[in-house]
Amino acid sequence: MPREATPSSLREAAVPSPRETTAPASREATPRRYLMCAPAHFKVTYSINPWMDPTKPVDLPLAQAQWEDLRDRYRALGHTVELLTPRPELPDMVFAANGATVVDGRVLGARFAYQERYAEAEAHRDWFRDHGFTEIHEPDHVNEGEGDFAVTSSYLLAGRGFRSSPLSHDEAQEFFGRPVIGLDLVDPRYYHLDTALCVLDERGDEIMYYPGAFSPGSRSVLRRLFPDALIAEEADAAAFGLNSVSDGLHVLVPQGAAGLFDPLRARGFEPVPMDLSELLKGGGSVKCCTQELRSQGGTP
Ligand code: ARG
Repeated sequence: MPREATPSSLREAAVPSPRETTAPASREATPRRYLMCAPAHFKVTYSINPWMDPTKPVDLPLAQAQWEDLRDRYRALGHTVELLTPRPELPDMVFAANGATVVDGRVLGARFAYQERYAEAEAHRDWFRDHGFTEIHEPDHVNEGEGDFAVTSSYLLAGRGFRSSPLSHDEAQEFFGRPVIGLDLVDPRYYHLDTALCVLDERGDEIMYYPGAFSPGSRSVLRRLFPDALIAEEADAAAFGLNSVSDGLHVLVPQGAAGLFDPLRARGFEPVPMDLSELLKGGGSVKCCTQELRSQGGTP
């Protein structure tokens, strides 16, 4: 097990402990542009992550209503939501975060790990082509979009271990010209980076994460780069609390992750609980349903 194999130089005790954080005087929401895909054809007929149990029925009207709540909440907060047309043969397409990564208006397409989702990559690339994006890179290596890439102002954080290939990290660094920090995921329940880590404010490199999802070395990296990060407890991680979306002020959090609400408030954020229980049956929640379209000139 990685824990036993940790060299002494990487043990937690050797790393400075996180500093106490004081909430900044004021948080500010910045308008975002998101790409979402309605769960019109959502179902769980195969299992490619431990949350997916094809014997458990999905309540499709409820899934649709929960997804609409999320979409409407973004719009009510002043964000733009673009829509991708769902395809009947692609039941996981509702998890739009996986279809590409967009930074500075440049689109790094996805290449899915499992055959069941292959065709989603093309659906996303077609959408970008049809919507005026000109710099679209079709990747050589497996990457599942924002499932495994998270953007801060300093870095592109990149998960590996279950889905995205480590080779996709170099490819992303070359394409975006941003330093990539590779992070090893070790717990199959947290198979994508966005199930274990959430960017709260990219300008200040503020994140929250669940350490148990990462290898000892990656935990040390996170502690060094983000000493003030909000550290999530296991119960909140298991309730998909890290699969949240922040606009710099409001943090849309899966409602079961109630342990995150007070720590977020203490840092000046406003948690907005969302119920996406039906989509959890596919192994996804708020962030998985939301791809951020970051325009030229910064994040966002
Ligand atoms: N059923 C999907 C899969 O296993 C869920 C994807 C969740 N998306 C995410 N961004 N983590 O691929």
